[in-house]
Amino acid sequence: MTTEPRNLILGVAGGIAAYKACELLRRLTESGHRVRVIPTESALKFVGAATFEALSHQPVHTGVFHDVPEVAHVRLGQHAELVVVAPATADLLARVAHGRADDLLTASLLTARCPVLLVPAMHTEMWEHPATRDNVALLRSRGVIVMEPASGRLTGVDTGPGRLPEPVEIAELARLLLERPDALPRDLTGRRVVVSAGGTREPLDPVRFLGNRSSGRQGYALAAVAAQRGAEVTLVAAHTDDLVAPAGVRMVGVGTAAELRDAMLAEAKRADVLVMAAAVADFRPASLTDHKIKKTDAGPPSVELVTNPDILVELVGLRREGQLVVGFAAETGDASGDVLHHGRAKLARKGCDLLVVNAVGEGRTFGQPDNAGWLLGGGPGISTEVELPAGSKALLASRVWDAVAARLS
Ligand code: CTP
Repeated sequence: MTTEPRNLILGVAGGIAAYKACELLRRLTESGHRVRVIPTESALKFVGAATFEALSHQPVHTGVFHDVPEVAHVRLGQHAELVVVAPATADLLARVAHGRADDLLTASLLTARCPVLLVPAMHTEMWEHPATRDNVALLRSRGVIVMEPASGRLTGVDTGPGRLPEPVEIAELARLLLERPDALPRDLTGRRVVVSAGGTREPLDPVRFLGNRSSGRQGYALAAVAAQRGAEVTLVAAHTDDLVAPAGVRMVGVGTAAELRDAMLAEAKRADVLVMAAAVADFRPASLTDHKIKKTDAGPPSVELVTNPDILVELVGLRREGQLVVGFAAETGDASGDVLHHGRAKLARKGCDLLVVNAVGEGRTFGQPDNAGWLLGGGPGISTEVELPAGSKALLASRVWDAVAARLS
């Protein structure tokens, strides 16, 4: 999607994940932004300056003695509206934490007054080393956003936390910070959050199912933003295979409404916040045949349906003291009332603490990167009704977490 062009710096430090910075750069420029790439000297051992110059249409330098009459080492940082460093190595984090300015990237980071997103990539031992932990804590205490790394395959045969999150996820957080610079405070630190996402499928026979058009993107955005705000996040995902698991999030895969219910009830026992963003099938076929249903001369078969349990209502019924339950409502207006009218009625019916109401239909919301709606809150003395302006699904997620964090404190 194209947005208003903004001035970005993409810093690249010297790690093998530097090759993924090329895809991130493409995503940022294709969104219409002016991106100045500032690699470190060692980053250029992994990716050549020509690649960054060709993709960004801007010159690429590493030292502070280029462009001296233009005072580039000060000007670039001053004019940036967002700095993203991906990958940020352990060495880069250490240099930034201690205010070093021995190359163009660190000098620019000292003069930048915009949001700074550092995306670490390193071996697990380096990420977990007390020196790195202290540097990350220091940077975060100053308002720098240090993304949680992904877990998985590292260079060679090692696996563990320290992998660079996928460029698509970094680009989404970058977009969020451009939409809302204060979207990622660490206000969910120590909180356990469970989010359901996607759409359940209710099998009819081995090849057919009853499903829905939920892509899972809103639930993924909620999980990704919560993780970057410090929460311990579990994402219960139903049929979201084309989405990248958010960095720092524990994934639980489910298929049917019954599986989703079992997973949510199990996870609910130790959660502070439960978010039902999944589109759960209200009905399922009463029986499942073990063979494909064939066409016959008798005409189409009729399918008997039974009602699935309402998981949100069950979670509300089991809610512990201090636990918050958030629901979603996908609504179209009709003759009996508009979207907001139906949303208010659903909040009352479900009894959850917060309800996000989306208008759906006519190509809105399902599968789209953007979202808008209302956030409704129940409870005596704390009723809320705020409009959620159109923006990315991560922006909507950040507003939901604002309301959750306010209620938790
Ligand atoms: N939900 C649920 N279990 C179901 C159906 C829905 O937990 N069996 C949850 C959804 O995850 C969402 C909320 O309930 O958080 C509202 O879902 P929605 O489909 O909008 O509402 P329904 O209860 O199905 O009502 P209706 O379809 O009549 O609008």
